[in-house]
Amino acid sequence: MYENDIASVLISEEQIEQRTKELAETIAARYPVGAPEGDLLLIGVLKGAIFFMTDFARALPIPTQMEFMAVSSYGSSTSSSGVVRILKDLDKDIAGRNVLIVEDIIDSGLTLSWLMRNLSSRNPASLEVVTLLRKPEAVKVDVHVADVGFDIPDEFVVGYGLDYDERYRDLPYIGTLDPKVYTD
Ligand code: PRP
Ligand code: MN
Ligand code: MG
Repeated sequence: MYENDIASVLISEEQIEQRTKELAETIAARYPVGAPEGDLLLIGVLKGAIFFMTDFARALPIPTQMEFMAVSSYGSSTSSSGVVRILKDLDKDIAGRNVLIVEDIIDSGLTLSWLMRNLSSRNPASLEVVTLLRKPEAVKVDVHVADVGFDIPDEFVVGYGLDYDERYRDLPYIGTLDPKVYTD
């Protein structure tokens, strides 16, 4: 489909599926079912986290509820601007709830650190993060993240929700983008 634009497969569908299962088992063990805070509330960060959110939610062996927020920091550039905008806010109050932010990638960390501050001010009972990918070499702001699927090199990656200029989100795996795509 996008063969000519993808330089290599970084993480295969099978690897994503396996790691998602492991994360789901580990994380579910921390949230007792029937807690006074209610079901675990997953907050998916649109649009990048769509596929990870749906696969992760179905892999979790506990009941969860789902909400979505849309924020954007990149526009069509491949590097982070540091400017975070809310494109869609939550529909519901999260006060007193156990909240887990579900992200596709932590690159500079700017989106997540901003989101953590924003959501903590709404007084959830707890606030944690799970991210499928993290680029340790690119991190500009340190954010406490308990659960990371894969640490990856500082290369531009697409697929499984991650885009370049809104394209490639529908690739079923994580691939590196051929630089020719963004250098001409
Ligand atoms: C991407 C990605 C993360 C964020 C990570 O989202 O999905 O949310 O950037 O970058 P950072 O750690 O440098 O802040 P983007 O803003 O491109 O929006 P999208 O999810 O709709 O693609
Ligand atoms: Mn995103
Ligand atoms: Mg993007």
